[in-house]
Amino acid sequence: MKTKLTELLKIEYPVMLAGMGGVSYSAVTAAVSNAGGYGCLGASTMTSEQLASEIAATRSLTSKPFGVDLLTAFPNDLLRNVELLIEGGATTFVAGLGVPRQVIDLCHQHHVLVISMCGKVEHARRALDAGCDVVVAQGTEAGGHTGTVATFPLVPLIVDALDGAIPVVAAGGIFDGRGLAASLALGADGVWVGTRFIATPEARAVPGFKEGILESREDGTVISRAYTGKTMRVLRNEKTDLYEATPSLLKPFPDQLGVSLSDGTFHLGGDANTPGVDPEREGYPAGQAVGAISTLIPAGDIVRGMVAEAEQIIATLAKS
Ligand SMILES: Cc1cc2nc3c(=O)[nH]c(=O)nc-3n(C[C@H](O)[C@H](O)[C@H](O)COP(=O)(O)O)c2cc1C
Repeated sequence: MKTKLTELLKIEYPVMLAGMGGVSYSAVTAAVSNAGGYGCLGASTMTSEQLASEIAATRSLTSKPFGVDLLTAFPNDLLRNVELLIEGGATTFVAGLGVPRQVIDLCHQHHVLVISMCGKVEHARRALDAGCDVVVAQGTEAGGHTGTVATFPLVPLIVDALDGAIPVVAAGGIFDGRGLAASLALGADGVWVGTRFIATPEARAVPGFKEGILESREDGTVISRAYTGKTMRVLRNEKTDLYEATPSLLKPFPDQLGVSLSDGTFHLGGDANTPGVDPEREGYPAGQAVGAISTLIPAGDIVRGMVAEAEQIIATLAKS
């Protein structure tokens, strides 16, 4: 399955692991790359030291290309972390929030591609103008920080606006080969998948997170400012209900993040052994795909299964 994205990233299949903070660590990143997709470390919850060691761990698990996602909303460590990902051998830098103008030239000097997450056509135009190499068109269905426009309209709108200048990758609500085939039909060059990959043995997750995804139905998520102050799609629970009922309690970003860290409801960078996680109050970022996820599946099987199913759909459509 060749697309402009597979050519550019030098990968077999146009399936990317979303760089999810707290989840996309070395094990799942390497598993996706080893299966022929593109693994991406989610470094927003990592210190610079952790980032360096996760890059090294990824390289020890795979010789295939992989990337690093950083939240550009925290500009203090941005330059240092971009230097680390360049030194460590990542082949892309994914900017999680905003266009990272200050480091694009540096990345390009070192043959590292720059990918920008976009929730609106205007974001994608800005990313192209600034020199980004790929955009991810992320619809509101997505887990984590998200906008208001759904994947189905957003992807073709961005594809048309960029007119083939750079590859467009679809994100938000994609969990199987049907989503991959539909994304290609909408004009995307690949998919960027988050929530489906949380429910894998390789993903890192705090207690209750994977269980919550397996148990939730498609309406079990809500867009809430309760955890960071920015709109984030998470599993609905008592804390999201509280802030939905009483929005006057909310503080702006990033102060609300400080509230969540001090009241013990957002264990950024925690793992399966983190103590004190209460599922009724914890921030578990997840998308509407939760309704379709009922078992843990190895990450490599997800990649191969998506591609096989999409190929079959495309072949069937071509015959009819
Ligand atoms: C647990 C979780 C953490 C996330 N963290 C980040 C992040 O740090 N940076 C980023 O660019 N996107 C982040 N996202 C958004 C994903 O990159 C991706 O766009 C989204 O998961 C795609 O939609 P899906 O969850 O429906 O597959 C996160 C999503 C989840 C579910």
